Formats: sequence, C-alpha cells, structure tokens
Amino acid sequence: MKKFVVSTNTSYDILIGKDIMKDAGKLIRKKLEPCRASIVTDMTVNSIYAQVLVTSLIEAGFQVSKIVFPSGEHSKNLTTYGNILEALADEGLTRTDVIIALGGGVVGDLSGFAAATYMRGIKYIQVPTTYIAAIDASVGGKTGINLLSGKNLAGAFWQPSMVICDYKTFDTLPSEKILDGAAEAIKHGVVSDERLIEKVLQGDYEYVIERCVSIKKSIVEADERDLGLRQLLNFGHTIGHGIEKLSSYSISHGHAVAKGMVAEARAAEAMDLTPKGVSKALSDILERAGFDLSIPFSPDDIYKFALLDKKISGDKISIVAPDSIGKCHLHKISVPELKKFIQLGLEP
Ligand code: NAD
Ligand code: GLY
Repeated sequence: MKKFVVSTNTSYDILIGKDIMKDAGKLIRKKLEPCRASIVTDMTVNSIYAQVLVTSLIEAGFQVSKIVFPSGEHSKNLTTYGNILEALADEGLTRTDVIIALGGGVVGDLSGFAAATYMRGIKYIQVPTTYIAAIDASVGGKTGINLLSGKNLAGAFWQPSMVICDYKTFDTLPSEKILDGAAEAIKHGVVSDERLIEKVLQGDYEYVIERCVSIKKSIVEADERDLGLRQLLNFGHTIGHGIEKLSSYSISHGHAVAKGMVAEARAAEAMDLTPKGVSKALSDILERAGFDLSIPFSPDDIYKFALLDKKISGDKISIVAPDSIGKCHLHKISVPELKKFIQLGLEP
C-alpha cells in the first residue's frame, strides 16, 4: 500500500492499494475514535461494494448507517444534496462523526459538499471507486453540485480527512468509465509529465494513480483555493463543461474534457500561445486511447455556458495553453476574446 500526505490547511493521508477496501475500518480507526459513520453512495456502488465497507467499519467499532441515491450525474443536484443533509440530521450525526463517500466523482462531490455544510462542517473520508475519482476527484477538496444553469456552480473547498483508494474496484467499471479516467490522467500528463501518458495508454493503473495523485498533491498544496497554479488542472474544462451541459450530461465528464482539451489546444495554437503541432499530437494521443473528439455543438452555445466558468474574474478569464505535451501555462484573455477562442477551437 502506498501513502501520500497532502499538506493543505488540514493535512490528510491518501492510501492507495489493491483490495484494501476490506481493511478500511482498521485504517480509519488509526485516525478516528469510534463514532457514527454515515456511508453516502449511489445505487450501483451500493450493490457491489457497500457490504464490504459496512462490515469492515463495524468490525473496527464504528456505528454505521447508509444514504443511497440514484447513480449518475443527474443526481448531482440541489435535491440530492438536500436529501443527504436531511438524512444526516435524521441519523443524528454530530460534528464528531464522519461521512464516508463511497463511489465515483458524483458521490465524492456531493458528499464533500454535504460534509462542508452540515452543522457548518464535519469530517468526511473519500473511498473512490472510479478511475476519475481515484486520480482526481477524491483529492484536493473541491466539492459541489450542478445548478440548472451549469456544472459545479455551487460548492465549497473542504478537504477530506483521509482517502482510501482501492483500485481493485476498477474490475467492475464499464470501459467508458475507464476512458473517463484516462482523459483526466492524460490531462495530468499534458500539464506536467509527458511520460505519464504512455502509462495511461498501457492501462498501468497503479502507476497512473500514484503519479496523478503526486502531481495533484503538489499543485493543491501550492494553490489550495484555485487562485492560480491549480487552474492548470482545468485544462479542457472551459469548453468541456459546456459540452457536458449541452448534451444534458449524456457526454460524460472525461469524454467532454477530452474533446475540450483538443479544442482549447487548437485555439491556443491559433492564437500563437502554443507551438504548432501540439494540438495534433494531443488529438493523436486521445484517439489512440479511444476517444471520439467530435463536438456536436456550436461555438455560440458553448460560449453561453463558458460565461459561467469559475475562472472568470472581472472581465478576464485564464485559459490553459500547452507549451508542449508535458508543460502548460495560464494566459489571461478578456471575456469577449473567449468567444473568439471557442470559435478557433471548434474550427475544422
Ligand atoms: P460517477 O460517480 O457518476 O460514477 C460514474 C458511474 O460509475 C456511476 O453510474 C456509478 O454508479 C458507476 N460506478 C462507480 N464506481 C463503480 C465501480 N467500481 N464499478 C461499477 N460501476 C461503478 O462519476 P465519475 O465518472 O466517477 O466522476 C465524474 C464526476 O466527478 C463529475 O461530476 C465531475 O464534475 C466530478 N469531478 C470532480 C473533481 C473534483 O476535483 N472534485 C475532479 C474531476 C471530476
Ligand atoms: N479537478 C481540478 C481540480 O481539482 O482543481
């Protein structure tokens, strides 16, 4: 089992290993006194993994309850968030208790936001079960939900107390969900480590999780609140979030980010912020991984959603421009220029 310590405003361990879910209770017990543990999960994950976790927590002395909601991005909304808060209150959870997020990025983002706000903040532990959650969503404390107007528009920075990542759970992931994770892993590679990309393409999960966590840990430690450096991790997301929303989330997060990364790299190239050839190299990598990079929406429609991007401050937005595969920089453009940027990205 590999351990990383993330030193943010509160520091926490990330434990990564194969088949470690059955030991979760013991691992958590090393950090927390026995208390109430409320597992928040979705229906799919509940049916495959909840029992192992429940047993392990009970054996370690925790008093366990469970909150289950329908699987998928459509649940990441105010209604589910409200239901989770009400259920926590019904269970009588107090500030000395803990929420355990068992599932993918949707479960993690919702549970984390509930933890950040229930009784003005209680502890939560991430137990990621998707590739995307293992390498990205469970690390760094970005929590939140979608609003009708767009992705992740309500949320909080709230770091977990621990992350227990058992990548044996990938055995039951559909191939499309593996691809979702591969997109975010390739993003980490484009932002800071070209060699990581070959490992993603080979499906070397252990290596990829550890390397992505190590990259994200360094970035989050330097910029926990997403004020500068961390925005590099939003590569592909300005256009990608618009694609996700316009498709009513039928194009999933990783697939949308893959499309968004190529479009943003193309636009950066057209604006001479990125050397010629980088966007082609990136689209070759993503096609090798198995992505369809077509974008079935107009630049104008994507622009409407991009106007809600959280990276906009005043009338400026930071975009991510690759210098090469393995290094990127941030560049500020005005909001009107963003429209041109998206048009350039979507030009054939
Ligand atoms: P998800 O939680 O909806 O999981 C995807 C699907 O896989 C769901 O249907 C789920 O039930 C199923 N599933 C989960 N684990 C499984 C397993 N082991 N076996 C079989 N099925 C399983 O979403 P996701 O794809 O994990 O993550 C996408 C979400 O994460 C998006 O909402 C995105 O915005 C968010 N995200 C957040 C961050 C962050 O830093 N907070 C980073 C990246 C992505
Ligand atoms: N997923 C991008 C970030 O956590 O900053």
